[in-house]
Amino acid sequence: MSALKDKHIILGISGGIAAYKSVSLLRLLRKAGAEVQVVITPHGKEFITPVTLSSLSGNPVVSEFFTANTGEWHSHVDLGLWADAMVIAPATASTIAKMANGVADNMLITTYLSAKEKVFVAPAMDLDMFAHPSTRRNLATLRADGVEIIEPEAGELASGLVGKGRMEEPERIFDVLENYFAEGEHLKGKKILITAGPTYENIDPVRFIGNYSSGKMGFALAGRAASLGAEVVLVAGPVELPVPGSDRIRRIDVVSAAQMMAACEEHFDTADIAILCAAVADYRPAACSDHKIKREGREELTLSLVRNPDIAATLGARKRPGQVVVGFALETDHEIENARAKAARKNMDWIVLNSLRDPEAGFRKDTNKITMICAATGEAVPFPAKSKADVAADILDCIKD
Ligand code: CTP
Repeated sequence: MSALKDKHIILGISGGIAAYKSVSLLRLLRKAGAEVQVVITPHGKEFITPVTLSSLSGNPVVSEFFTANTGEWHSHVDLGLWADAMVIAPATASTIAKMANGVADNMLITTYLSAKEKVFVAPAMDLDMFAHPSTRRNLATLRADGVEIIEPEAGELASGLVGKGRMEEPERIFDVLENYFAEGEHLKGKKILITAGPTYENIDPVRFIGNYSSGKMGFALAGRAASLGAEVVLVAGPVELPVPGSDRIRRIDVVSAAQMMAACEEHFDTADIAILCAAVADYRPAACSDHKIKREGREELTLSLVRNPDIAATLGARKRPGQVVVGFALETDHEIENARAKAARKNMDWIVLNSLRDPEAGFRKDTNKITMICAATGEAVPFPAKSKADVAADILDCIKD
């Protein structure tokens, strides 16, 4: 049985010659038992008729915000909530640009902006348009937003030119979707505890010790885990990020390491997996002044710091058989050996080594470059630099077995 059976798929079609291939994709999805709702742009209709699409999908095709004769409003919000995944094939340069910038001037884009689940994009355009810096930039934005790009092929294009830009074949797009849902079963029913972001340790009512962690990696992990079916408890330090769109994520906001520790202790015993992504402050002021520390009369100020609890080590020590603990490491020298030793010390099953040498990795970036180290085997698998969304997918893929 196909993993796509009974899944709700929005098939977005924009105006390109490759729109004729969407018919094959639609038929493959229907044959696999998926429910399909087609959303087509006004230009898309110049390439393929809504009648063909509605008869094959079994649902009226949505294109305008309103049905002209009845005035009935089509709710992109409801569509977004209904869907388990959205695939835009073909995605023209213009649709990609609008998606990347939130230009909501047609039903396809408003639906995309309301989509809570995974979105796939299969670009189709001429080679010069595909290679143009603006398209590259827009695709990079979409990737960083967690959209999966199904890369076009090199081949003969509608213009007669030969190069990269031809939409991937419908069978391949179908495989990508099917694999996504097949994988999704792996985390179904699992509870995952994730820590993310920095912690702030108060010095007085207006000052704190903190760090530059943005929380992006932990939030990407939470989003991906939820879209793979997991129930996620996301314990977030002070960050400005919205919760990834899923009702399977419960966010608990904390400020200090002590609060993060308390939230983790509450949820760890019922969790199957804990991923400790937060940059926890190792020390906190021995005392937090209850009034603002004044400058007058002080040439020097010495803060006395005490050790914070090590959340990873505490949970590692409490781990029961079958539970999986994943930590992160940032090392400057003897990276792999130090990371392995850290995993052993904290009783972790996996440790994600962040590269410090790479400009594409690290705090506040949208990309990351990691090496996954398995504590049991000592094996270290390096990955190329990727968006944090894709890194999250790699991490969850590694630890699933
Ligand atoms: N960690 C934690 N609680 C702490 C400190 C760290 O849970 N108080 C977790 C982090 O979330 C991360 C891993 O432990 O998963 C990082 O370990 P740590 O020893 O803090 O790494 P470094 O900061 O690199 O430590 P060191 O300075 O000793 O190399």
